[in-house]
Amino acid sequence: MERKDFIKTSCIACMGMALGATLLQSCVGTKYAKGTRNENGILLDLKEFETEKKEQRPYVIVRHDDLTFPVCVYHLGGDNYSALLMQCTHQGVELQASGDQLTCPAHGSAFDKMGKVTQSPAGKPLRTFPVTIVNGQLFIDLRKQA
Ligand code: FES
Repeated sequence: MERKDFIKTSCIACMGMALGATLLQSCVGTKYAKGTRNENGILLDLKEFETEKKEQRPYVIVRHDDLTFPVCVYHLGGDNYSALLMQCTHQGVELQASGDQLTCPAHGSAFDKMGKVTQSPAGKPLRTFPVTIVNGQLFIDLRKQA
């Protein structure tokens, strides 16, 4: 193999490994949970926020069959959580969780973990729900706006 070909092949392999590591890291960070639905909202076990290494996850995404859009629940520290409907307020597209923000794949709007717009074109904040702790579980009250 000539030197030029070796360098080219090595660079492609390195880029592939870097991309793979990045994708793997983002997959490990996202936890999907179903929770338990009742007539007023969703109960979510606090253990859903623990990793296998007993570290705290920054957020959990709740998907349930009777929810049109998932709800992203951020752990804000201590007993404080926020629950945000993952529906973009611009044109209604499902948002993607990306670290401390939710981003829209359609036109690039972004929202912080309290639902506030950080990047337009969206002009309104996300729908949020009150979160309380009941018997060691989070209760996300879907009847009300937080
Ligand atoms: S639908 Fe989300 S930015 Fe347009």
